[in-house]
Amino acid sequence: MPLPPSPSRLLARLGHRLVQQFRLVDIPVTLPWSGTTLRVLQPATFDRLLTAAARDPEQNLPYWATIWPSGIALGDALLHRPSPNGGRPVLELGGGLGVTATAALAAGVDLLVTDYSPVTLLLNRANALRNTGRQPRTLQLNWRQPPPALFARAPYHLVLAADVLYEARDVEPLLALVERLVAPDGALWLAEPSRPPAQRFVAAAQANGWHDQLTHHQGPWPDPGDEGVVVNLHLLHRSAARAAI
Ligand SMILES: C[S@@+](CC[C@H](N)C(=O)[O-])C[C@H]1O[C@@H](n2cnc3c(N)ncnc32)[C@H](O)[C@@H]1O
Repeated sequence: MPLPPSPSRLLARLGHRLVQQFRLVDIPVTLPWSGTTLRVLQPATFDRLLTAAARDPEQNLPYWATIWPSGIALGDALLHRPSPNGGRPVLELGGGLGVTATAALAAGVDLLVTDYSPVTLLLNRANALRNTGRQPRTLQLNWRQPPPALFARAPYHLVLAADVLYEARDVEPLLALVERLVAPDGALWLAEPSRPPAQRFVAAAQANGWHDQLTHHQGPWPDPGDEGVVVNLHLLHRSAARAAI
C-alpha cells in the first residue's frame, strides 16, 4: 500500500490550487492567552470574492476571508485547556481560515471543520498543515439545509463555533442544528463579539435548558481595527455535566 503524502507535499498541492485563485498574504497571529503564534494565509484582496458573492444564491458575503477575534479567542481557549474532549471527535461550524482549527489540532483534537465556502476549507487545511503538520477533515455545507453527512458521527461531545451568528436568519437554524448535533452530556463552545443575533441565540438556548459558563476575552488582537473588541466565550452545556468537559 502506498504511503500517504507527507504534510509538506499535501501543503504544496493545496498551495498550488490556492494560488491559481488569488494572491495570498501571510499574517502572524498571536493567541493572547496561550502566547502561541500562528502563521495564517488569507486572501490579499476581497474584490474578486465580493464579485463572486454577488452571484451566490444564498447571498453569503465572504466573511470567511478575514481573521476574527472570536476565532482567536476560541482557539486560545482550546490551547489553554488541554484535551478538553478526551479524544472524542469534535465538530466546528463555520471554520473560516482555520485559526480555531489549527489551535484545536495543536491541542490534539480529532476535528471535522464545516463551512459554506469550499475555498475557505482549502485555506483552513493549508493553515492547519503549515502550523501543525496535521489537517482537519472538512465538509462543505449550508447550515440552513444541513446534509445527512453532517450527522454521520453525531452526536458530538463538543461542537465549536466562532462568530457564526451575525445574521438574524441563522438564529433558528443554528439552534435547531446544535440541538441535534450536541450529545445530551455535551457542549457547544461559542465565541461571539456581542452581535444581536448571537445574544438572541444564547438567550434562546438558555430558555431551552442549556447552561452557560461565560468568560470575556479582550485581546490584544492582531488587527488594530479590532482594538476594543470583547469576545464572549460561552461554554454552553446541555446538562449539568460541565465538569466532564
Ligand atoms: C465571520 S466568519 C468566522 C470564521 C471563523 N469561525 C473565525 O472566527 O475566524 C463566519 C463563517 O461562517 C461561514 N458561514 C456563513 N454562513 C454559512 C452557512 N449558511 N453555512 C455554513 N457556513 C456558513 C462563513 O463562510 C465563514 O467562514
